[in-house]
Amino acid sequence: MNLLLLNGPNLNLLGTREPHLYGHDTLADIETAAQAHAHQFGATLATLQTNHEGEMIDRIHASRGVMDAIIINPAAWSHTSIALLDALNAFEGRVVEVHLSNIHKRESFRHHSYISARADAVLAGLGAYGYRAAIDWLVG
Ligand code: DQA
Repeated sequence: MNLLLLNGPNLNLLGTREPHLYGHDTLADIETAAQAHAHQFGATLATLQTNHEGEMIDRIHASRGVMDAIIINPAAWSHTSIALLDALNAFEGRVVEVHLSNIHKRESFRHHSYISARADAVLAGLGAYGYRAAIDWLVG
């Protein structure tokens, strides 16, 4: 099984960015742990973090017919991006949306995610464990 882990804007700052909300793990910690976890199941896991919406959309297009599933933390684009939703709608595999924080417990503008209309599963508030839980659900 080929998995793609996508992280959206500002998540490159994990570890130092509002750690009371997002935890102390860096993005490298999260990606390394996710790769090791996927390998335990014989799966591959490619990663991309980008602050550029078009770059993420291009990567989703390139994953069509290549990747079996996408695990995505769309970050702030969750709440704004119909373009990202449309790109994921054109992807045939499974999609798991992950948020480190519980977006429903936060400001009202974070309560709605365009991506949830496409996601097969949504995990929010589990911290970095959410990424591993997504892998468990997809490959376990
Ligand atoms: C986030 C929640 C979003 O509302 C926020 O814009 C982020 C991170 C999370 O992982 O909790 O950047 O997706």
